[in-house]
Amino acid sequence: MAALRTTSRLFASSKPLFRPAAFTRSYATVDALSQVSASGHASSKTIPESKTSNVQDPNPSEQPRVKTFHVYRWNPDQPTEKPKMQSYSLDLNKTGPMMLDALIRIKNEMDPTLTFRRSCREGICGSCAMNIDGVNTLACLCRIPTDTAKESRIYPLPHTYVVKDLVPDLTYFYKQYKSIKPYLQRDTPTADGLENRQSPEERKKLDGLYECILCACCSTSCPSYWWNSEEYLGPAILLQSYRWLADSRDEKTAERKAALDNSMSVYRCHTILNCSRTCPKGLNPARAIAEIKKMMTAH
Ligand code: SF4
Ligand code: SF4
Ligand code: FES
Repeated sequence: MAALRTTSRLFASSKPLFRPAAFTRSYATVDALSQVSASGHASSKTIPESKTSNVQDPNPSEQPRVKTFHVYRWNPDQPTEKPKMQSYSLDLNKTGPMMLDALIRIKNEMDPTLTFRRSCREGICGSCAMNIDGVNTLACLCRIPTDTAKESRIYPLPHTYVVKDLVPDLTYFYKQYKSIKPYLQRDTPTADGLENRQSPEERKKLDGLYECILCACCSTSCPSYWWNSEEYLGPAILLQSYRWLADSRDEKTAERKAALDNSMSVYRCHTILNCSRTCPKGLNPARAIAEIKKMMTAH
């Protein structure tokens, strides 16, 4: 059981959310969360002095710079309780510079029940993707805005089923990734039996593609993917698909194109460009999709 995270701030539509029966679950909107918050169900925490006494203050003489973080909470073990926003206050003088530092400090020192994914803390693993102050990004690459008057809001990636708190369910996203056969396919052995080599020019065609870390920030910012995610592959998977279409060593270009040749897999992209705007790695999935469309029309 999981909540479906939608956001009316990013996109509003009267279209009902559709999922097959297997995916029928409860969901919450940001509007509903605001009401929950306003009605007093959301709670707030600051670090008690006893808990912080062993934290080394890097700037002991400075005035505290207390910033408030509102964090989305939902617990699958309490399925009758609606998602809520929970508030935490941290002194930025005692907190690392990134949003992930704030979340780790909250979890370590204030609330061990807060759940989120993270691993590398340097923008490589893609696991800390979430929606921070209205933008899909990686918490480990996102600086905490130093203006303490502005409160920060942290949600799971929009339009995903939520496993718990900030953890999105990416099961279907990875099934779609598997469906594009994201590996080298060729039948012809190389003449010398060694590696499948490329010229520098051929290798260069993979720049801007191989760097994708599959964080799903782009796909979960794409309105077309929100409404058609069962059939539309979305920008992340299409960028990966193009990564193999563009690879000079791959021999299954025709099969790969045939698998995409239908009205839904690629052509739900309407060049809205949310994907390219949000990618925390600076990639351009919309361009990759345009290249696929060009390849599909070429003979
Ligand atoms: S293209 Fe960018 S935003 Fe999309 S999955 Fe890859 S790294 Fe993440
Ligand atoms: S350009 Fe295409 S894939 Fe990117 S956000 Fe727009 S519709 Fe989605
Ligand atoms: S923790 Fe790995 S990308 Fe953020």
